[in-house]
Amino acid sequence: MKQHHHYDALIIGSGAAGLTMALHLSQNARVAVLSKRALKSGSTWLAQGGIAAVLDTTDSTQAHMQDTMSAGGNLSHPDAVEFTVSHGKESIEWLIQQGVHFTQDSDDYHLTKEGGHSHRRIIHSADATGKALQSTLIERAIASPNIDLYEDHIAVDLITRRKLGLAHNRCVGAYILNEKTGHVEVFQAPHVVLATGGASKAYLYTSNSDGATGDGIAMAWRAGCRVGNMEFNQFHPTCLYHPQAKSFLITEAVRGEGGKLILPNGKPFMHKFDKRGELAPRDIVARAIDHEMKRLGCDCLFLDISHKPAEFVRSHFPTIYKRCLKLGIDITKEPIPVVPAAHYTCGGIVTDEKGRTDIAGLYAIGETSFTGLHGANRLASNSLLECLVYAKSASQDVFNSLTTPLDESIIPAWDETQVTDSDEDVIISHNWDEIRRFMWDYVGIVRTDKRLQRAKHRIDLLHQEISEYYSHYKISNDLLELRNLAVVADLIIRSAMLRQESRGLHYTLDYPDLGPEALDTILTPINFAWN
Ligand code: FAD
Ligand code: SIN
Repeated sequence: MKQHHHYDALIIGSGAAGLTMALHLSQNARVAVLSKRALKSGSTWLAQGGIAAVLDTTDSTQAHMQDTMSAGGNLSHPDAVEFTVSHGKESIEWLIQQGVHFTQDSDDYHLTKEGGHSHRRIIHSADATGKALQSTLIERAIASPNIDLYEDHIAVDLITRRKLGLAHNRCVGAYILNEKTGHVEVFQAPHVVLATGGASKAYLYTSNSDGATGDGIAMAWRAGCRVGNMEFNQFHPTCLYHPQAKSFLITEAVRGEGGKLILPNGKPFMHKFDKRGELAPRDIVARAIDHEMKRLGCDCLFLDISHKPAEFVRSHFPTIYKRCLKLGIDITKEPIPVVPAAHYTCGGIVTDEKGRTDIAGLYAIGETSFTGLHGANRLASNSLLECLVYAKSASQDVFNSLTTPLDESIIPAWDETQVTDSDEDVIISHNWDEIRRFMWDYVGIVRTDKRLQRAKHRIDLLHQEISEYYSHYKISNDLLELRNLAVVADLIIRSAMLRQESRGLHYTLDYPDLGPEALDTILTPINFAWN
């Protein structure tokens, strides 16, 4: 088996961001795309609602920008918002060229609506947009002679010249655990791209799949990159509440098409919280549901679309209809039990418009990045758009430096001589559960200084324990994810402690009002000198 691989670009992540970048780059470069599980295992496959873009003549870039800024609690960076929104139409056209099928009505694409949008502007493939998008991009990537796809390959850590004790810091590759062989291999490339998705698995209840452990953020942080706005973890208001339904989302488009949120007694309540009702931005709706659940002491609330014609419901939401029916809920006849769950990491690795991070040769795109687009709360369906736009701009930057030669320095093989097989895996599962539970209880939808201090105390202890474990035992996927989860949980808690105001997704009872200035929370790793 090959233990040392060389490419023009190493892309860690096979979601919308990673595959889009790979396909753009494949015209001129040899690319490796890695996924720690199956290629479709991230959030992209699960995306339901669609992609926000200005496609209708009655809509405007200005309106989409305004909606993004307003949902984002006025913390979004205007330049990032303009850059993203103004590339919306061409991104969708590129997807259509790749072969992605979007839902059409009589003579054009059907555009749906979601919370915080002033226009119908969400293009979608029924209620399974991510599956349509990713399956097409995977097919295109498989067909490309310049792209090698690796499943079950888990990035452990980035390799930088600084780590190798060399001057002129640059990222030169990564150590990758090949789960099939159990060996750690070296992937060397002058351009390394983190497209590793978000970190919502830091919370007990989440709409994300198991791999959303913020690996890219943790690796970049350990390598010396700044991270921004980690306190803004978005909670989606409506995940299915059912003992057999793990992490199943009920798309916001259900509300966009007339779905009503109701209490157990059948009464609507959203009008009490925001004049936009069910279509208020996500932070407001999730907080309202949380408030009502706590007030009534109930386990869930309900989302009702049964007043719409059954055929309309079945044709717009076929995936949700079938999934709920299997669990005994006929959504054409009865309301759907729902609860909020951690959904999206608005913060991440600090990047510029070209996806460049603080380390030369290292890029971050998609949910793992912090571009400034989302501010304090992401506008629905802006995430896939961000993946597409920044994947393209980053690939253009890589094209401009394709002549960068492969670093000739010797990269040492992974050293396992000091570690043994773990004899107590229970530590891993216990610590996983502990982190996710206290993050939910103390760093969730409503925060206080005291809760954050408790969480900080716990994460400090766990950090010590996990580091010790990591230095003694052979690595495994679970251990790597736990180690990364502990880093991102710490970053979320630290960022939340620094924000002494309530803005967007960060709501604290100790500072319930907006502060005087809209400022980002940027954390800088200590012990690093910037180039
Ligand atoms: P992902 O698609 O999450 O992919 C991450 C990739 O990184 C995976 O291939 C994973 O295996 C790999 N990876 C991670 N760590 C490692 C590692 N250590 N080593 C190797 N590989 C690694 N957004 C919208 O705009 N519209 C929607 O309708 C929408 N619906 C959503 C519905 C659900 C249920 C969820 C969970 C999210 C939804 N979102 C939606 C958000 C959006 O889907 C994600 O933000 C987006 O897909 C992220 O894409 P990505 O390419 O950044 O990461
Ligand atoms: C949804 O379909 O409700 C999710 C959309 C998103 O996360 O942007």
